[in-house]
Amino acid sequence: MGVETAINIAELREHARHRLPRMVFDYIDGGSDDERTLARNSAAFRERQLLFNVLAGVTDIDLSVEIMGMKSPLPFILAPTAAQRLFHPRLGELATARGAARFGVPYAVSTLATQPLEAIAEAHPGPKIFQVYVWKDRQLVADILHRVRAAGYGALALTVDAPVAGNRERDRRNGFTIPVSLSTKTVPQAFSKPGYLLDLLLGGPAHPANFPLPHAGDVMTHINTQFDRSISWDYVSWLKDAWGGPLAIKGLSRPDDAVRAVEAGADAVWISNHGGRQLDTAPATLDTLPAIREALNGRAQIILDGGITRGTDIVKALALGADAVAVGKAYLYGLAAGGEAGVARAVEILKDETERAMALLGRRSVADLGEDVVAR
Ligand code: LAC
Repeated sequence: MGVETAINIAELREHARHRLPRMVFDYIDGGSDDERTLARNSAAFRERQLLFNVLAGVTDIDLSVEIMGMKSPLPFILAPTAAQRLFHPRLGELATARGAARFGVPYAVSTLATQPLEAIAEAHPGPKIFQVYVWKDRQLVADILHRVRAAGYGALALTVDAPVAGNRERDRRNGFTIPVSLSTKTVPQAFSKPGYLLDLLLGGPAHPANFPLPHAGDVMTHINTQFDRSISWDYVSWLKDAWGGPLAIKGLSRPDDAVRAVEAGADAVWISNHGGRQLDTAPATLDTLPAIREALNGRAQIILDGGITRGTDIVKALALGADAVAVGKAYLYGLAAGGEAGVARAVEILKDETERAMALLGRRSVADLGEDVVAR
């Protein structure tokens, strides 16, 4: 059965598991240490209930939002995720871009993308965000910003929760690196999935395509050696000036940092714990949302990611104060399972589920959602 018939994100995940070598599936699916934050992100959504009104005239549901000056027909963004040619070796980010473009949903492209950012922009003429990390080499940042602007990206997101790579024990156990290196651990995993292996051989190694990766390094080594751990909030002000457009700070978990982000010039606060992949035992993003919203008091927009697999999850985050949410794993399962069609199916599932949840909840638009609809 193809991805088009998958009825929910969990089914797309099973398709992905079937298609991918274990090490690649685990890289998408896993978190850090004991994966407590990974589990908490999802549990926080499950623990909340939706309180519905009836007879509320829900003929037309409008899911559109405006985020960092960009209009989106749907209240979610495809989150930046690294090295997508690992998941779909022939097209990677181009497949994601085309799948997202079918719905006009914003795509946040990772610095660690394995396709040129210009080609991705061509495949996705709609609203786009570019994600950057803090490199020691400021020239590298300046060069990328120049290209990002020229390619028509409407906003920038600075990821701040990865001064060092998280401890991904599944990856260590599986011998997994980006790009995949050949070893007694990885070769049998690759050979157990011949369809994937063939694509990988045709597609070539999944190297980051938008900056030179120094000496045979894998991506995690790159993070640990090339990212600047010394920077603090003044870097945000520098970046905001250098970029000159809307800026989100991604990877915030506390009200005090959210306020600092705004003071440093951020237009949006992106609540995230990197999908439970960085500091384990950090709180669920949904649990941190109310206090951050209160501290910001409307001074910046809020994006939230982490654990979203259902339309009801999206509605809960919007009701508690997010202006938009982002999904990562949800669309990567689709990408791995079926490329462009799989990404499109993931978006369609979340769109249909969100529309249905709104109708059943008795709310017509995102603006009609308030915290009164959510209970613990
Ligand atoms: C990850 C980094 C590379 O989560 O963003 O794997």
